[in-house]
Amino acid sequence: MKAIIGGTGIDKDKRFLDGMERLVTKYGDSYYSVIDGIVFMPRHRPGHSLPPHMINYKANVQTLVDLGVDEVISIYAVGSITRRLAPGRFGLVRDFIDLAYSRENTFYDGSTREVRHTPFVEPFDRKLGACFAGNAVHAGYSLAMDSVYITTNGPRLETPAEIMAYRNMGADVVGMTLGTEAALLKEAGIRNAAVAFSINWAAGLDAEGISFLEDETVDKLTEAIIAIAVKTLS
Ligand code: HPA
Repeated sequence: MKAIIGGTGIDKDKRFLDGMERLVTKYGDSYYSVIDGIVFMPRHRPGHSLPPHMINYKANVQTLVDLGVDEVISIYAVGSITRRLAPGRFGLVRDFIDLAYSRENTFYDGSTREVRHTPFVEPFDRKLGACFAGNAVHAGYSLAMDSVYITTNGPRLETPAEIMAYRNMGADVVGMTLGTEAALLKEAGIRNAAVAFSINWAAGLDAEGISFLEDETVDKLTEAIIAIAVKTLS
């Protein structure tokens, strides 16, 4: 079974919301719908009701495990720190830095009585990413490759000094969810390709303060990404 995890685009679209089901796992409950054999999971729950630091990531990933999912395309709205992935574009994430805290971010938390240090030299599945990139190019999109995503805890946005520090650390884009989710997916043995789309320049990089793409533009972008992801997983 294959799955798409997304934020905006999946959690407000009637196509996905109408057939939503709820699964109770050993870590809590989670929502998903299945369309044409693909699982669609709204990361923030239907209606986007949970902020990034309140999401039960373990329940989301365990739901995928319980459904027998072995391959995921995960989609993230981000802010741009470098020009590698500018607002209005999307692309593949190659690596991440995780600055989130106070979150349940591992299945190996002592309760399993097993100590395991999962390797993260290659955080994402290259083959799946290449397949997504091929389909995106085929559909006429130019893709930003190799972005580094930095995960902040949120829910507040960053200060300009923080963004400057993150740029010096090597980050191209900033968001609040990927690090936690990608860690759990890998621990669960699920192949994952992460796709980021940018909706703003990060703090301090836009002369006008901080401004986000209009909803209509974001909807079009997410729709295109979801279509490419569906083609990749079908
Ligand atoms: N910062 C953090 N998360 C985000 C941003 C941002 O600027 N844009 C979209 N998600």
